[in-house]
Amino acid sequence: MDFGLSDEQLALQETARRFARAEIAPAAAHHDQEGTFPRDIIRKAWELGLVSTCIPEEYGGVGLSVLDSCIAVEELAWGCSGMATSIMCNDLGLMPILVGGNEDQKKRFLGACTSDFSLVSFCLSEPEAGSDVAGMQLFAEKDGDGYVLNGTKCWITNGGEADLYTVFATLDRSSRHKGICAFVIPRGAPGLSAGKKEDKMGQRASDTRVIHFDNVRVAAADRLGKEGEGFKIAMQTLDRTRPPIGALATGIARRALDESTAYSKERKAFGFPIGGFQAVQFLLADMAKDIEAGRLLTHQSAWMVDQGLRASKYSSFAKCFATDVAMRVTTDAVQIFGGNGYTKEYPVEKLMRDAKLMQIYEGTNQIQRLVIARELLKE
Ligand code: CAA
Repeated sequence: MDFGLSDEQLALQETARRFARAEIAPAAAHHDQEGTFPRDIIRKAWELGLVSTCIPEEYGGVGLSVLDSCIAVEELAWGCSGMATSIMCNDLGLMPILVGGNEDQKKRFLGACTSDFSLVSFCLSEPEAGSDVAGMQLFAEKDGDGYVLNGTKCWITNGGEADLYTVFATLDRSSRHKGICAFVIPRGAPGLSAGKKEDKMGQRASDTRVIHFDNVRVAAADRLGKEGEGFKIAMQTLDRTRPPIGALATGIARRALDESTAYSKERKAFGFPIGGFQAVQFLLADMAKDIEAGRLLTHQSAWMVDQGLRASKYSSFAKCFATDVAMRVTTDAVQIFGGNGYTKEYPVEKLMRDAKLMQIYEGTNQIQRLVIARELLKE
């Protein structure tokens, strides 16, 4: 067992860390306040090889492992988790193509994302079907050698910015998961439109929208896998993308710890820096220990995915544990900052708002517990 990072992983970590400090962190408060999408920064990240990292070298990508992507995304999230989410969701959108696509589809869609800067959206959630994927309503009606899609997706990251959408729709609502198909649809497809940008509590730099499908035609050649395989493609995708969510949460928590440690050395109470008081020391110690545990679970689950092992349970462990840690740690950071922490002049209130989303997206932490319990009962 080796817990050390390789020279390549250390170099990747350094690249992402420098980028987060030089480009992401200085712009984070502005995009948080304005709720604007920093396309120029995401593009620069792409130029450095930090976006669409899951695309294998044979299709022109950098072919990072899931563990590598976790190492990079933790650094990016340290700078701003809204921007890290936009970057990470590109891999989420691409993963169904890697999981369920044929050679022609991989060449066409993955190739297009490496030859030019492209953003991708993963369109799974719906207004009435967030946790219950099999209950989706977006309808795919067969039409000649293709399909016509009608309905709505919601909470779609990169929704207004994407060049490609991986979309899950049902051929037969009564068949639940057995009726679901996965499709790839380009931006500009007639009938596909992005709705209003959500005015979110946190992660305000990421672009989250409703996507409408009004008689959108998709060729059979753009369906991933066979008819009815869409649900399993979605689940296998999430098994692979939940570890990076753990890493993203770890980045938020680590930033909160860094800010809290620095503040504890500067801020005085009763004539002494507050870091000298055991009440604050215990908070810092718990933050540090929980962050470390979250990172270990995250790296273990990513390693399992990279080994080709079924990682549903471990991916859910990592997603659930590390995101709960981020919520706890950022809440304690606000506590350490006291009244200052509750104002926008200090960075920790943003971290707390950002952390909340981590417990909700890519499967709520209640769904993660459900996945874990089902796996346990199956064993
Ligand atoms: N791998 C392979 N197959 C799987 C699987 C997996 N991980 N999980 C389930 N399956 C299979 C089952 O074996 C079963 O197969 P059979 O038909 O052969 O028996 C089939 O799929 C149905 O499985 P379930 O009975 O477990 O399905 P369910 O309807 O009870 O739902 C669920 C399972 C875990 C609740 C699922 O609906 C789920 O994961 N929900 C959460 C959705 C989610 O995470 N959404 C996130 C959206 S993306 C996002 O948030 C992005 C963003 O903005 C950042």
